Amino acid sequence: MVDTSMAPARAQTERLFLERHRTLESMAHCPSSDLPYLVVADIDRREFNRIEDIFRYDFQTVWMRDAMSITNLVLPEGRVGVVLVSDNLPRAGADFVEALRLNPATAASPVVLMVQSALRPGGERFSEFAPEAMLTRPLLPTVLRATVQRLMRRSVQKSWQSLRPRHRELLATTLKLFSAFGSGAAGVVELEVLRHGSRLLVDACSDGHVSALLDALRQHDDYTWVHSTRVAAQMVMFGRYVGMSRGDLELLAEAGLVHDIGKLKVPLAVLNKQGPLTPGERASMETHVGSGMRLLEALPGISREASQVTARHHERLDGTGYPFGLKGSEIDEASLLAAPCDVYVALTDRRCYKPAFSKDQALSHMRERAGSHFDGKLLDRFAEVAL
Ligand SMILES: [Fe+2]
Ligand SMILES: [Fe+2]
Repeated sequence: MVDTSMAPARAQTERLFLERHRTLESMAHCPSSDLPYLVVADIDRREFNRIEDIFRYDFQTVWMRDAMSITNLVLPEGRVGVVLVSDNLPRAGADFVEALRLNPATAASPVVLMVQSALRPGGERFSEFAPEAMLTRPLLPTVLRATVQRLMRRSVQKSWQSLRPRHRELLATTLKLFSAFGSGAAGVVELEVLRHGSRLLVDACSDGHVSALLDALRQHDDYTWVHSTRVAAQMVMFGRYVGMSRGDLELLAEAGLVHDIGKLKVPLAVLNKQGPLTPGERASMETHVGSGMRLLEALPGISREASQVTARHHERLDGTGYPFGLKGSEIDEASLLAAPCDVYVALTDRRCYKPAFSKDQALSHMRERAGSHFDGKLLDRFAEVAL
């Protein structure tokens, strides 16, 4: 059973999005058929509903309330991200485990066993089972999310083996950069990593396969890295379109990669909160600009463009942005170019509190802000290269 009727109403989606992006005013909803599947094998319908709600923007959730249902489970091969199996599942035993491993849809999927007691996980019935993780009920949403995301990260990174070597190197390089920043170890080494990553990104934007590369990021759980890499690629594509030199494109890539680096200092509980933000949480979210500026100060030699874009990517043409409320010509060229890229990527990003919006929905939303938030002509040109 795939239940899409649980999708939140448009109004709720808008509200949750606006909690993070206060300069946008309305939002449309888009279907989520490109999401991977999460199979939940549990007799308890209420538990299934709870899990479905936790992952409503991450997965298409499929309920299996009896072990025998595995024989009827027909889903596309390789699209089941994770299988959650409860030890309360009727008629589950060695046959079920074997069937799970023989079904093409779930054969390679990581399995999480949800148990009443870690001391007696399902009694003898699951003795042959070797799940990738085991969780004890009652399930805490944060623990469940962290476990599922860890398993997804592993399979997403495994899928990168099919990418071109230079693309793989780009992902590994930029991911390493974010780990270094996240650990507070930013320094000269990171500047070199940033520059190398930026060169690889400009190369990728020139080889005609950048969309496939960005698709390979989508399911990764390190949101700030995914978003920043997408923004950087979008900025480079835009810069190419308006005729910038190779050197300037590398500066744009650098700026895109670091523009939200301050989010590494925002508590994950705020960054990944599913519900509305309190005023205090919103203020905490907006501190990412100042935190980013301070992080970059620890990198002597960082480009002026990277510093400017980090400081000003939330400024808006009409002065309604933050943190400085700059207007029009007070905003530098790189930041003006970055703003539509950042908003477009934020709209088309999938987050735990909102679905991803389609290209057309995102662009039409942004066009309503032409002349106020964005320069209209710049936005028209941006639409030509939106990925
Ligand atoms: Fe930001
Ligand atoms: Fe951003």
